[in-house]
Amino acid sequence: MLEKFKKTADFILNKIDFKPEVGIVLGSGLGGLGDKINIKQSFDYKDIPNFPVSTVEGHSGKLILGELGGKKVVAMQGRFHYYEGYDMNIVTYPIRVMKFLGIKNLIVSNAAGGLNPKFKVGDMMIITDHINFFPRNALFGKNYDELGPRFPDMSKTYNPELIKKARDIAEKNNIKIQSGVYIGSSGPTLETPAEYKMFRVFGADATGMSTVPEVIIAHHMGIKCFGMSIITNVSEPEDAEQETTHDEVQNVAGQVEPNMTLIIKELIRSM
Ligand code: HPA
Repeated sequence: MLEKFKKTADFILNKIDFKPEVGIVLGSGLGGLGDKINIKQSFDYKDIPNFPVSTVEGHSGKLILGELGGKKVVAMQGRFHYYEGYDMNIVTYPIRVMKFLGIKNLIVSNAAGGLNPKFKVGDMMIITDHINFFPRNALFGKNYDELGPRFPDMSKTYNPELIKKARDIAEKNNIKIQSGVYIGSSGPTLETPAEYKMFRVFGADATGMSTVPEVIIAHHMGIKCFGMSIITNVSEPEDAEQETTHDEVQNVAGQVEPNMTLIIKELIRSM
């Protein structure tokens, strides 16, 4: 399997003349952040050996290599979700490849449902910690000792320095930013009112269907992680029956994009 990751990475490295330092996963409706990258090379997933192909609406499925915030980056435009039916090894395959491309930092974005009653639609949330509520851990199965330990410590999974830098950047630019715990579960159903309530009781501030597997795999390999959610819908206890549509999620994510782009770009610059 390690050979497979290396082979995929070598295919890419043979077509570029630099090594990316930062990996980015562009989540739901945030694909436009990719437009800010000074693109040197881009690949359709279907043209990369061993790469999975994305199926969900709004995910174009491109791996972009170029420059953002003065750094060399590799960005996934379109990610793989567990709810699409992929095994965790497939969901996280690109993250392993990014490690072999040479990244030291990973930035992950997503759309999420707000659980914290202080959150409003359109808020951005820096992820300070997560709860893994997926039915299977991304590291389930054989451990690659060459990549990381069998039982990884998870106390500082979201890098405290990067969190501080992002907060400073937001403050400096008068951008309102929330912080909190992201709970990841498989989907594809959105939560029932009872489930939203349960997640709130667990201590989570936002809920979504991605990010946790990718961050576990990156952290296991010693990559510094930073994550941000866009709150696309909220579940107040009183109006938890309010309906949420996929279109709504994409629209809100699109509106928040400029601020999100600014923060991520400046964060990369500060690395
Ligand atoms: N729940 C789970 N995933 C989501 C939500 C939600 O309410 N909103 C956007 N992604």
